[in-house]
Amino acid sequence: MSTAKKEYKRVTVKSLVDMKKNGEKISMLTAYDYSMAKIVDAANVDVILVGDSASNVMAGHETTLPITLDQMIYHASSVIRAIDRALVVVDLPFGTYQSDPKKALHSAIRIMKESGAHAVKLEGGEEIKESIKKILNAGIPVMGHLGLTPQSIYKFGTYTVRAKEEEEAVQLMKDAKMLEKIGCFGIVLEKIPAKLTKVVSESISIPTIGIGGGKHADGQVLVIHDLLGMTHEFNPRFLRRYMNLYEEMSTAISNYVDDVKSRDFPNDEEQY
Ligand code: KIV
Repeated sequence: MSTAKKEYKRVTVKSLVDMKKNGEKISMLTAYDYSMAKIVDAANVDVILVGDSASNVMAGHETTLPITLDQMIYHASSVIRAIDRALVVVDLPFGTYQSDPKKALHSAIRIMKESGAHAVKLEGGEEIKESIKKILNAGIPVMGHLGLTPQSIYKFGTYTVRAKEEEEAVQLMKDAKMLEKIGCFGIVLEKIPAKLTKVVSESISIPTIGIGGGKHADGQVLVIHDLLGMTHEFNPRFLRRYMNLYEEMSTAISNYVDDVKSRDFPNDEEQY
C-alpha cells in the first residue's frame, strides 16, 4: 500500500475517496468557532466537522439532542469564514431529518445556504435511507454515521461499544453498503470493534472515519476539546490527548487573577 501523500490545495469529497484509493489516511477534527477552525485548517486537517457535539462542549448540555438547526448554522458559518483548505461537514441535529425526507432536505438546504458548508452528516442507516436519498438528489454531499450514534443515546441507554454481537454487526455492514450504494461519500464509524471496522472498510469503496473504531478505518476523527485536553472528566480508551490544556489554561488564568489582585498587572510598560 502506498503511503505517498498528494498535496490537496482544497479538500473535496472526491479528494477523500482518492485518499482511500491511494492508501492515505484521512484526518478529521471538530471545530465550532472561527478562531479554533483557523488553527485546525492551517494545520492541514483534511475535514472539519461542525459536530452536534457542540451541544456538549460549547453549550454544556449532557447530550447532543438539545442543539438546534439555527445554532448549528451559527457554528458552521463561523467555521466556514476561517477555512482555506479543509472540507467542512456539518451535523444535521436531532429532530431535523428523522421524521420525513422533505423536512430533511429543507434542513440540509438551510445548512448549505446559510452557512456555506460543503456537506452534511446524518446518523443512522436503513431507517433514514429516504431522507439521505432526498438530500443527495438535491446535489448535497452526505456523510453517514453508524455504530454509536449519540442522537439515539436514550434508545441505547449507554455509551458503550456497539455492534459487538453478530446481529448488530451484520446490520451495520448492510447499512454501510447501503450508504455507499445510494451515494454517500464517507461514513463515520463510532465505537465499534476494530475487527468490524476492518471488514467494513475493506468491503466498501468510500472512506470510513473512525472514532473509537480502531486503526483499520480509512481516517480518524476526534472532538478538538478532547484532543487538546480541555475536557478532563471524559477518558474513553480510544482518546489520545495531545495536550493538557485544562491545566495550562487554569494555571494561566489563576496567574492573571493573582497579578490583577496584587497590582502587578498592568505594569508601567503595559499602559498608555
Ligand atoms: O458530533 C460529533 O462531534 C461527532 C463525532 C463524534 C464524530 O459526530
